[in-house]
Amino acid sequence: NGVITIDAGFKNTGSCESAITFLDGEKGILRYRGFAIEELAEKAGFLEVAYALIFGELPTKEQLEKFHTDIKSKSVVDDDVRKILEAFPKSAHPMGILSSLTSALTAFNPSSVNVDSEEEMYNAIVKILGKFPVLVAWTMRKKSGLPLNYGSRSLGYVENVMKMMFEEPNEEYIINPIIKDALDKLLILHADHEQNCSTSTVRIAGSSHAGLFASLSAGISALWGPLHGGANQAVLEMLEAIKADGGDTKKYMAKAKDKNDPFRLMGFGHRVYKNFDPRATIIKKAADEVLKDLGVEDPILEIARGLEQEALNDPYFVERKLYPNVDFYSGIIYRAMGIPVEMFTVMFALGRLPGWIAQWKEMRLNKEPIGRPRQIYIGENLRPFKSIENR
Ligand code: CMC
Repeated sequence: NGVITIDAGFKNTGSCESAITFLDGEKGILRYRGFAIEELAEKAGFLEVAYALIFGELPTKEQLEKFHTDIKSKSVVDDDVRKILEAFPKSAHPMGILSSLTSALTAFNPSSVNVDSEEEMYNAIVKILGKFPVLVAWTMRKKSGLPLNYGSRSLGYVENVMKMMFEEPNEEYIINPIIKDALDKLLILHADHEQNCSTSTVRIAGSSHAGLFASLSAGISALWGPLHGGANQAVLEMLEAIKADGGDTKKYMAKAKDKNDPFRLMGFGHRVYKNFDPRATIIKKAADEVLKDLGVEDPILEIARGLEQEALNDPYFVERKLYPNVDFYSGIIYRAMGIPVEMFTVMFALGRLPGWIAQWKEMRLNKEPIGRPRQIYIGENLRPFKSIENR
């Protein structure tokens, strides 16, 4: 009707119809394809969940095997991508490297760009699911100075990621089942979250019919920010700062409430969850178990617990319905696994990959129009041009 209403941050604007993820922020419900997140985190494997997100149903044993075989057959990354990685300084943030390499994959896989049929989409999807874990592992190995490697065809998807990330030269890598189960769970919990910032970015970039890899690269950039996926790194840095400050949680609580201070309690609050984040509940329990099972005593777990209790009883946080989100405890688990802090958001990206793919595929199959929001212009009215001599 030509009337434009502004909804900054799209707080009350739906951008699409979707059959992938159901989220009830008041009740703290999250379901992928109708399956409760609690049940998936407990009983399913990450690749099974990825299949369900992308194709709509949980796979049979045969379907899962074929899917995994197809992914494994596409896991080789062009050797020139290695050279691009080598050109980055060691100080580069892993998220910058990951988004660049994901975009660069387009150049080496041109057939994955103009995909219209479901078969072409499938080929692009198994390619990125095969190559992305290699990019993730290589990004980490570059940081830690380890030689680049490949996985093993005999391992499961998550085991393979672990081998590629942690394997030391001339040493046989033995999978620790506690770490494997915890990583499976973390990846599942991050796998999709309807129209969040990075997913909306993937859908809107893809709506111009940019290729899948280019759209994913845009999503990775959106995820990087500390208000979104980058919060997991920011939480750990915040907890470390509190520890270095003698564990003075009250000081940081006061900073978070001070409207003249830009500091926010990282890992707290969510645009949609207003009573609790169901992913945080599962992760908090997992953090306790994993640290106990691994025999790791991390003093920042105590600080996190203390901070959470204070915030949950503080009128500022209660009134604004601010609760711990998925990122509050995840970093503590990643660190116990031996993953460097700068890699945490990369791990989020690895988990979110199937969700981004599913949302991109749905957008393309639904033949959604190009995403193109409007604005209300508040600039100057028409005025005469003055030549540069007269300005
Ligand atoms: N610490 C202190 N105050 C906060 C926080 C926080 N973490 N989060 C929100 N507030 C306050 C905010 O200042 C505002 O107060 P007032 O009404 O007095 O102006 C009120 O709560 C509402 O906040 P908002 O910024 O309007 O809420 P939003 O829905 O736009 O933002 C959020 C959601 C997640 C970006 C925000 O809560 C935040 O910045 N949290 C910290 C970063 C974080 O943990 N992000 C990870 C999100 S979960 C992982 C993911 O899926 O991305």
